[in-house]
Amino acid sequence: MGAAGALSLFAPACGSANETPVDAGVFEQPDANEAGRDTDAKDGAKDGAKDGPPTGDGPGCASSCATSSSVFALTFAKYPALEQVGGSALVEASGYADPACQQDFIIVVQPTAGEYVALSGSCTHACCTVHFTGAEFSCPCHQSSYDLEGKVTGGPAPAPLQKLTVCADACGVYVTLP
Ligand code: FES
Repeated sequence: MGAAGALSLFAPACGSANETPVDAGVFEQPDANEAGRDTDAKDGAKDGAKDGPPTGDGPGCASSCATSSSVFALTFAKYPALEQVGGSALVEASGYADPACQQDFIIVVQPTAGEYVALSGSCTHACCTVHFTGAEFSCPCHQSSYDLEGKVTGGPAPAPLQKLTVCADACGVYVTLP
């Protein structure tokens, strides 16, 4: 009855969000609990969404993960939510195009301690961006849901999210783009 109106309030980013980091989950507290991590004070420190190959995270953090031009780096200094279980980051990975929507959103989460998952971030139904609920991925547009493997668990989505290879170490999470 009145539900359709409520749903339309949430129509986010369907194909038009070309902004810098789009965040989901527990995210963005400038540098609150960053004990021991040196976030550099330059404005350039916020360019994580379009980063090229990782170079560690500034002084003091050299990643042990393999790096190349096809690896997208989400350092913990720039994406502190990823250090928390249940945390997530939705970013635009320049050079990536998901199979369903040809968009560059990827979503990276830590569902359980030390486990990282990266998936394409655009819902395969009509390309809205998904978010992480703490247990699965959900699309706010028409309520599709996906499990941690990207498989559809509900709603009208016709295909899974694309699962991406990740490597994580003390510096951050590194996603290999296909
Ligand atoms: S766009 Fe995600 S369910 Fe329709």
